[in-house]
This record gives sequence, structure tokens and C-alpha cells, in this order.
Amino acid sequence: MYSEMTVDTALPEDKGIESSLMNGHLNCDQIREQQFPYVKESVQKLWSIDSKEQSLTKTIYCFSSLNKDLQLDLVLESGADFNKFLCSLWDVCYETDIFKFLVPKIILDQENACIKLIFPQNNLKASKKYIASIIRLMAKLREYNFKELHENDAALHFYMSSGQEILHVNNYPPLLVDFLMTEHNSFDSLLHEKKHTYTTLVEVGCGELENVQLAQKNQLKYIGIDFDPTRINTANQIIQRHGYQQVQVACADIINMKFFDLYQSQHDKPILIFPFNVFGNIAPISYLLAKLKLFSMDFIISSYKINTTTNNVREAYYRNCGYHDLQKIESSFGVTFKSKMGLHTIAYSQVYLCSLLQAFGFTVSVLEAEHGLMFVVNA
Ligand SMILES: C[S@@+](CC[C@H](N)C(=O)[O-])C[C@H]1O[C@@H](n2cnc3c(N)ncnc32)[C@H](O)[C@@H]1O
Repeated sequence: MYSEMTVDTALPEDKGIESSLMNGHLNCDQIREQQFPYVKESVQKLWSIDSKEQSLTKTIYCFSSLNKDLQLDLVLESGADFNKFLCSLWDVCYETDIFKFLVPKIILDQENACIKLIFPQNNLKASKKYIASIIRLMAKLREYNFKELHENDAALHFYMSSGQEILHVNNYPPLLVDFLMTEHNSFDSLLHEKKHTYTTLVEVGCGELENVQLAQKNQLKYIGIDFDPTRINTANQIIQRHGYQQVQVACADIINMKFFDLYQSQHDKPILIFPFNVFGNIAPISYLLAKLKLFSMDFIISSYKINTTTNNVREAYYRNCGYHDLQKIESSFGVTFKSKMGLHTIAYSQVYLCSLLQAFGFTVSVLEAEHGLMFVVNA
């Protein structure tokens, strides 16, 4: 069962107010009247869910943080030359127009070959041109071999080789099957509640049309995105065989794909879903989030929890897949499992992911189930 949980990482000390907000005891007008400095205009009622047999039952409030700076940590790939980058820093800033719109703080750590970029939140709220200029800067820094600090390198060749195992139902421990069923039901409830808001369901990491029924049931067009051509071929065969209407797939890496392709007409309003922890397999996420913000995309991320029981379920799953040299890394970003066979999957910590989403100016609600978290994100 998914239920509401605390989202904002920067709420003040007053737990009384916090819990009233979270439990829906105060409505938006009351909140504004009381003028709590940290919520102001940013509170809005997002989902009011009352579905009988499904898993979401509560009214959820969401917050956007007013005072969160966007902080990006980038680290230079080993072997690359930090000095060369330093010599070009001004060119990079000039070419990307970064100082024209923004005044980022740039902290250079030559010893550890990393840089920290801090963009004040007020800058980001103001305009999309700021976001566009951050995207340009991040793209430029990638040319100089900077990666995001927690970037995973799970890639296409993994999914096309030993990564195939990760998608075999026979490898799923029973609790993982429960996780997926709850996830499916909860996506369904959320889409049902937002019936007339969206026209198109975009499934990222769609494989063989895993969640196409969600679109059919909620009368949405469906676009599946996956970077594995074999799975997209099979998906196309399934579309033909079933004669599905308004169902399309595209073979693309979500990081590089053109979001314009998600619109068939100017009236379209897509919502993206990232099921089955696929978000934890994608990198670089800050770059992706910046693009999603630029295009005002709403999306829902389903990820694993990072408690001991869920970590154990994941571990059993990856062992069933044959990744016997598993390495588990716990950090402030979340819990990562790695294998030399190419597995690299992170379940993000709720605090880290919410902070990052809020710093990009998204509003976010988090729903909780036994093994999963759902981040419901509005641009
Ligand atoms: C749903 S995820 C599975 C996650 C895994 N079960 C775990 O525990 O983390 C896998 C699917 O996402 C697809 N995928 C992964 N990264 C992608 C990317 N950057 N763009 C598009 N599809 C991607 C893969 O090809 C695969 O079909």
C-alpha cells in the first residue's frame, strides 16, 4: 500500500504545523492566511485520492522549497586533465552565457579533481532561459570529461548482454513481484485521479510495453521509450499483433531524446513515468532534470526504498540474475548495487532526490509503500 509521507527536507522545527499540513488538516487558504514563511504560495493541493480498491487513499499536499540553491557536484573522469579545464574555464563560461543570466558560485577542488556549482534558487525560479543556460553549461562540462558525482555507468551494452537477466520474471523474488504490482496499481490510481490533465503516457524504459495497459485503461495515448533496440523490436511486434491504436515506441536514450517528439499536436500534455527504479539506472540525472524542467514535464518516479528489508530483496533479485560479485554501496545519495558484469543501479535517498527536484523548482509529493517510494513531480 502506498501512503503519504513527509516530503520537504527544509521544514522548520514546528512539528505541530508540519504534521497538520501533512495530514491535510489545513487547507491551502488557511496555510496562506497563517503566512508560514516557508510555504507561501507554493503549497497546492495536488492529488485528492479516494479510490476504493486501489492503494492510494489520502489527500496529499506538496511543497516547493523557497530557499534551496541548486548544487551540482561534478567530478573529472580519471586520466583527464584538470589544468586543461582550468585554462578553459572562462571560455566555457563565456560560450555558455552562464554569467549573462546567472551568478553561480563555482568552487574548484583541484586536489580531488572536482567542481561544485551553486546556483541561487531565486535565479532558477525566474525563467527558463536560466535553465537553458545551465543545460548548456552541463553539456559543455561533459565535453571536458566531468561526470556527476554519483553518476552510474549502467549502459546499453549491459542491457543487451548480462543485463537481460534483470528483466526475466523468473529472477524476481516474491516481494519484488509485490512491489511491481503495487507500483502498477498506484500509477493507475494517480492517472485516474488526473483523468483530464494529460493526453499521453510516456513510459521510460518501457521494454516490451510493460505498462501499456495503464494508458489503455486511462484513455491516454502511449509512447514507450527504451534504448535497447531488441526490446523495441519486440515491442513493435506486440503493437502489430494486438493492433494497438495510439501506441508508439521509440528507441532512444532518455538523456538525449528530443522532448518535442512527445508532442503529436500542440494540445498534447504528456506525463512521464519512470517505473521499476529505471530512474536509478539513468545518468546524468541533473542534466535530465534540467531538460524536464525546461519542457515543463510532469513525471512520476517509482524507486525502491533504502531500508534493510528492501535492500535484501534487491540483493536476492540481483543474485538470482547471476551477479555474484555484488557490491553494495551506501552513501548520502542512496544505496547502489554494482557488479563487474555491468550492473550499476542506485535507489536514491528520499532526502537527496527531493532536495534535487526542489532545487530545480519542481514541486514534489512522495508516496510510500512497503518496498517502494513514488515521487510525484510537477514542473
Ligand atoms: C525498468 S529498468 C530495470 C531496473 C532494474 N530492475 C533495477 O533493479 O534497477 C530497465 C529498462 O530500462 C531501459 N533503460 C535503462 N536506461 C535507459 C535510458 N537511459 N534510456 C532509455 N531506456 C533505458 C532498459 O533498456 C530496460 O528495458
